[in-house]
Amino acid sequence: MKKDLISIADVSKDDINQIFKWAAIFKRGKRRGFNRLLAGKSLGMIFEKPSSRTRISFEVAMHQMGGYVIYLGEDQTQLGKRESVADVARTASRYLDGVVLRTFSHQGILEFAKFASIPVINGLSDCCHPCQVLADIFTFIEKRGKFSDKAGFGLKGKKVTFLGDGNNVACSWVWGAAKIGLNLILSSPSQYQIDGSLISRANKIARENGGFIELESNPEKAVRSADLIYTDVWASMGQEEEKEKRREIFSPYQVNDKLVSLANSESLVMHCLPAHRGEEITDSVIDGKQSVVWDEAENRLHVQKAVLYLLLKEIQSP
Ligand code: CP
Ligand code: NVA
Repeated sequence: MKKDLISIADVSKDDINQIFKWAAIFKRGKRRGFNRLLAGKSLGMIFEKPSSRTRISFEVAMHQMGGYVIYLGEDQTQLGKRESVADVARTASRYLDGVVLRTFSHQGILEFAKFASIPVINGLSDCCHPCQVLADIFTFIEKRGKFSDKAGFGLKGKKVTFLGDGNNVACSWVWGAAKIGLNLILSSPSQYQIDGSLISRANKIARENGGFIELESNPEKAVRSADLIYTDVWASMGQEEEKEKRREIFSPYQVNDKLVSLANSESLVMHCLPAHRGEEITDSVIDGKQSVVWDEAENRLHVQKAVLYLLLKEIQSP
């Protein structure tokens, strides 16, 4: 049966282990010996929003594994406008071996997956960004944990503080932290906080795995003794007109030198990118010695290779 990657909420711990195991193998091996793994496979990329990292890393991943990519931007497929999402999904399933979707509506991805007979990967929706957060956690393990430790990857007791907008990336962090058993503190202005019922569902799983998820609206308290500080833009794609209003509301949550100095002296700083420098993060922090944003961006490639390999390898073209 086909598998999708739509939200980390649906990914089992075993599957996360497999993804990280293969990502580490791909990273160690760089390009050697893997260039026929997905030979003859074709990946569609249907994107309603711009992208640099997601598009480049998926395209290069397919190329390095011998596969082919068809990129369909905003003006092409026009999901749900030119024809129904279900009909695009049915058609695409007759040509492709997998599809990455970047949509405004998460519902659109769920609808696509329902009618597709091929694996569907969420490349960012209004709900979540699973590929990003898998690469983030992989980077955290690489820097502060152990790949050999199946139960928690050596990150037990580590504290992650997410500052800023409780949007798609934060939402995937909630599920990622829950599955790995991290201590996640979310710090956002009250009207931009992640839905409380989602937090309590995820917190149950986090506790079973030895971690917890908490809200702390005061950013200075939230970063205290953090091992990883994470932020995302204050105005996401599609929210551009709210930029000015948000800039004012979010300003206490800016990741700057003063805030970073309150965390562990060894704390890492991550950002999914693109960064709005001078807004949610300052130049001195993103370019500073605690920042690992470029390793984090690179790891998108290795982790997505693992995702593609695991999802596409068994699937036969119709
Ligand atoms: N982080 C991320 O997904 O970047 P892009 O929007 O450039 O793909
Ligand atoms: N929250 C951002 C993430 C970009 C990778 C957005 O949705 O635009």
